[in-house]
Amino acid sequence: MTTVHLPAGSGLDAAALALLPTPSLVADLAAVERNLAVAGRQAAGTSLRPHFKAHKCTRLLRLQLGQEGCPVTGATCATAAEAAVVVAAGVTDVLVANEIVDREPLELVASLAKQATMTVAVDSVAGLAALETRAAEAGSRVGVLVDLDVGQHRCGVLPGDPLVLELARRTAASDSLELRGLMGYEGHAQHAADAATRESLASAAAAGLAAERERLIGAGLPCDVLSGGGTGTLAAHGRIGVLTEVQAGSYPLMDEQYGEVGVGFETALWCLASVISARPGHAVLNAGMKELYGEDGMPRLGLVGARLEDGLSDEHATVHLSPQTELAPGDRVLLAPRHVDPTMNLHPHLFVCNAGNVERWDVDGRIG
Ligand SMILES: Cc1ncc(COP(=O)(O)O)c(C=O)c1O
Repeated sequence: MTTVHLPAGSGLDAAALALLPTPSLVADLAAVERNLAVAGRQAAGTSLRPHFKAHKCTRLLRLQLGQEGCPVTGATCATAAEAAVVVAAGVTDVLVANEIVDREPLELVASLAKQATMTVAVDSVAGLAALETRAAEAGSRVGVLVDLDVGQHRCGVLPGDPLVLELARRTAASDSLELRGLMGYEGHAQHAADAATRESLASAAAAGLAAERERLIGAGLPCDVLSGGGTGTLAAHGRIGVLTEVQAGSYPLMDEQYGEVGVGFETALWCLASVISARPGHAVLNAGMKELYGEDGMPRLGLVGARLEDGLSDEHATVHLSPQTELAPGDRVLLAPRHVDPTMNLHPHLFVCNAGNVERWDVDGRIG
């Protein structure tokens, strides 16, 4: 009999987990569904455009897109390759919320635009010209959101820069492109430690987008879409009501980075690991950096009286046990990942547990 040590309050089924291969990722479907319901409530006042990059699993994306009672505008992707997977799975409206400059992915987006409504973030004349060329060659029409830097200082044009209007005008004048609006992702706000700070950073980002929309409209240009936000600012944007869609991705599965700052969602993703070596006070698990992305900090071990040693080995995690806690080789434990996106990207499948039933869902977008 394999002993599975379930985290306190977990609805997972120990008998089902005893039969799975380790190390592997498991999702608690009931927790996922509760997270979707919370997201639906938080999003009141805006819409969701779930970000596929968080989990890269089209079956999970389908659950998000089919959520009843919650306006969902389509899917968000980080790359053209992810978009191809999502379109092949039947999604008809996809935003690549990222700049694309290489020929091959631009060609891919241009060809996908024949089957689905495709939109791409753009922040340079060169990027826009390259996208226009590929769309014209393909005979398709690709939507554009002019990307604004609303404080993260990653991609995007600074609000007020004349380039915003220039990109919008060039897009509107093109036969192969369609100006859909503006994007501004406030990545710097997502993991701010308290809800008030997240809300004030989200408000500032929304205000920057709204001001630029006024400039576009004043110049006679369309601006139907204001896209941005994430799991950390979804509730804020639901209240602010300026964004037309929020690109949240982590909320169905969640991770420790978000759990730490309290964004209203619960842990639904665990890494199931086996104890492969043990002596009093000490145990070693068969999951390390190759199963649990560790650069953003350590995962959380769901076992009372046990503490992970700081730092993962390639294939191992070391556990320090209190005198009252025992683990034996073959025992199984669960670890909550620190960062969902890069952890999912390490696994070919997700074992989705619904009480005692387990289904294997492919992480089919991993190639992107
Ligand atoms: C462009 C963009 N939009 C939205 C998100 C939000 O994702 P999450 O909800 O997982 O924080 C991210 C995350 O990195 C992102 O890069």
